[in-house]
Amino acid sequence: MSETIVILTGAGISAESGIRTFRGPDGLWEGHRVEDVATPEGFEADPVLVQRFYNERRRALLDGILPNAAHTAIARLQREWPGDVLLVTQHIDHLHEQGGSPQVLHMHGELLKARCTLCQAVQSWEQDLSAESVCTTCETAGGMRPHVVWFGEMPLGMGEIEATLQRADLFAAIGTSGQVYPAAGFVNAAKYAGAKTIEINLASTGTSEVFDEHLLGPASEKVPLWVDTLLGSRKGK
Ligand code: OAD
Repeated sequence: MSETIVILTGAGISAESGIRTFRGPDGLWEGHRVEDVATPEGFEADPVLVQRFYNERRRALLDGILPNAAHTAIARLQREWPGDVLLVTQHIDHLHEQGGSPQVLHMHGELLKARCTLCQAVQSWEQDLSAESVCTTCETAGGMRPHVVWFGEMPLGMGEIEATLQRADLFAAIGTSGQVYPAAGFVNAAKYAGAKTIEINLASTGTSEVFDEHLLGPASEKVPLWVDTLLGSRKGK
């Protein structure tokens, strides 16, 4: 039977595409407190600030940001691996899709989508959002928000992620600091299920000791090497 792989990516996978990570020096929060721009309470208190924060990030994402060799290598693994590969990303950008990934589970939502809090419809969205934005489904203004998961909200796709982790043979965490749950706990679930675990990161993280194997270095170099090794190991089987 072919092996099942679960890949978890974080902000580090897109760092070399020019998107800042959250916890690096000069982090992505643009000087804001996380509570002010990434919680339902922050949105309720100052919707204009929160919409502006995500509008700026959406514009930057659409301003010529391109996938890097790590994104395209993962897409190749998804296409060529004979077993299942579940790609879970904490990133809200669309670089995995642009890199050719046939499936991406965005557990923290997507910047290029908006959600109507009045009718719950989720729609593709590339414009700025504001209180004047009109939902294309219920045609009402005033309920549109970014389709991103804020702190205190339930990440998306947890049923599928947990079920796949239970039958995983290999778990890889790429470019994530392992500081935000539930994603930070996936390595333990995979280990419990008997999977081999590998961490690919520029530096050691707070959860490094849990992993069986480590590839230290930039994702754009290490991920293609890892994918070549994996696909090479299948040749002749
Ligand atoms: P972090 O900013 O916490 O961590 C980024 C990780 O990427 C760090 O461990 C870096 O060492 C690593 N890294 C940086 N550049 C790299 C490179 N070129 N190659 C390989 N690794 C590199 O980002 P996340 O772990 O993704 O959630 O953060 C998790 C969540 O925290 C985010 O999804 C977001 C944030 O709060 C929400 O907004 C809900």
